[in-house]
Amino acid sequence: MKPFQVGLLGAGVVGGGTFAVLQRNQEEIRRRAGREIRITHVADVDLARARRVAGDAAEVGNDARALIARPEIDAVIELIGGTGIARTLVLEAIAAGKHVVTANKALLAVHGTEIFAAAGENGVVVAFEAAVAGGIPIIKALREGLTANRIEWIAGIINGTTNFILSEMREKRIDFATALADAQRLGYAEADPTFDITGVDAAHKATILSAIAFGVPVQFAKAYVEGIVDLQAADIAYAEQLGYRIKLLAITKRREASANHAGGIELRVHPTLVPSRRLIANVEGAMNAVMVQGDAVGTTLYYGKGAGAEPTASAVIADLVDIARLATADPDHRVPHLAFQPAAMQDLGVLPIDDVVTAFYLRLQVADETGVLARITGILAEHGISIDALLQRPGAAGAGEARTDVIILTHDTVEGRMTAAIAKMQALPTVLAKIVRIRKEDLA
Ligand code: HSE
Repeated sequence: MKPFQVGLLGAGVVGGGTFAVLQRNQEEIRRRAGREIRITHVADVDLARARRVAGDAAEVGNDARALIARPEIDAVIELIGGTGIARTLVLEAIAAGKHVVTANKALLAVHGTEIFAAAGENGVVVAFEAAVAGGIPIIKALREGLTANRIEWIAGIINGTTNFILSEMREKRIDFATALADAQRLGYAEADPTFDITGVDAAHKATILSAIAFGVPVQFAKAYVEGIVDLQAADIAYAEQLGYRIKLLAITKRREASANHAGGIELRVHPTLVPSRRLIANVEGAMNAVMVQGDAVGTTLYYGKGAGAEPTASAVIADLVDIARLATADPDHRVPHLAFQPAAMQDLGVLPIDDVVTAFYLRLQVADETGVLARITGILAEHGISIDALLQRPGAAGAGEARTDVIILTHDTVEGRMTAAIAKMQALPTVLAKIVRIRKEDLA
């Protein structure tokens, strides 16, 4: 059979990894795909970079549109990134009848509905294993391996940069700014790490996981997103004393309506206390891990490298092999892009953060006076919030007054109630600094 011919858009680190792995494992890959998979053309604005990546193996140019228009190209790999020119080129490739493999989480989280609809109309596949958790085959697991299950929730560490920073903060007892500088020096964080540290990158990935888990459209705009920028070393240390680690978790959960709660999907990214005894709490450095709770299978955990040249290439090539095998199949018999048949997608909305149900860690810096604790616990009780644990420790030295840190762990509550309780506690004259609130998940 003639080789499966692929055009590569964007010759960066992952493009280089894809060439290297395809070349090194070409015989194994051919035995699996049933034909050779060959990148025959590369397009990049930086021609020298494209030549470095392709060597003599492919024709190199700087015209992506000309590459897409070539009739011999079966599939296009999009590794440009972002939601600008990448969107235009992906839609053009689809319109030209090319299958697309992309690692672009932002593109799919924001424009996925448009892109998957266009792919459906043109009978092509848009494959995106590399967009979430790099080398971990989490899309395949959710979409195919767990297809018998009603998925209940997913909780993942799906941003390696922030996990590295949090590990450094905990292990070396350093603050956020120092850990970020270390991450940049060691090449874990981008020169502009904004999307990582603000949680946006993880939210893009969580949006894709949520759509596949529940058969709902991608709804990035409705995700609640909070990064690690304001996280303080003191809270990491207190959490540890209480038996927890703080991780930037991406969480998506199906919530049935009840007398007390609205129904819908939770889709949120924020620092989270996780019991130290959970495996996922021990995922350190730049590694990724995703927990999936299905009603039949129970809890499953997927662990591996979420970024890097060859781990990401592993996912890109797996998609190419899938497409090479299925290219001639009737489009109706392919695995649906978002796991559920397009006509069976549900219009379940994402719950506003005030309707999310979770437990909390609170830290209050208070004046060490009689009755302070009673007033605080009284406000929590007024709002129907139940306390799980309480710790009092000497806090940072104040301006002459005796101060103490009060740390409270609560049981599950609706977030809106906690927000109201915090506003009331914050107004007490004996509460001397901004109250720290971090969500807590038991992941049991
Ligand atoms: N910036 C991402 C991370 C790379 O740190 O995980 C992979 O998407």
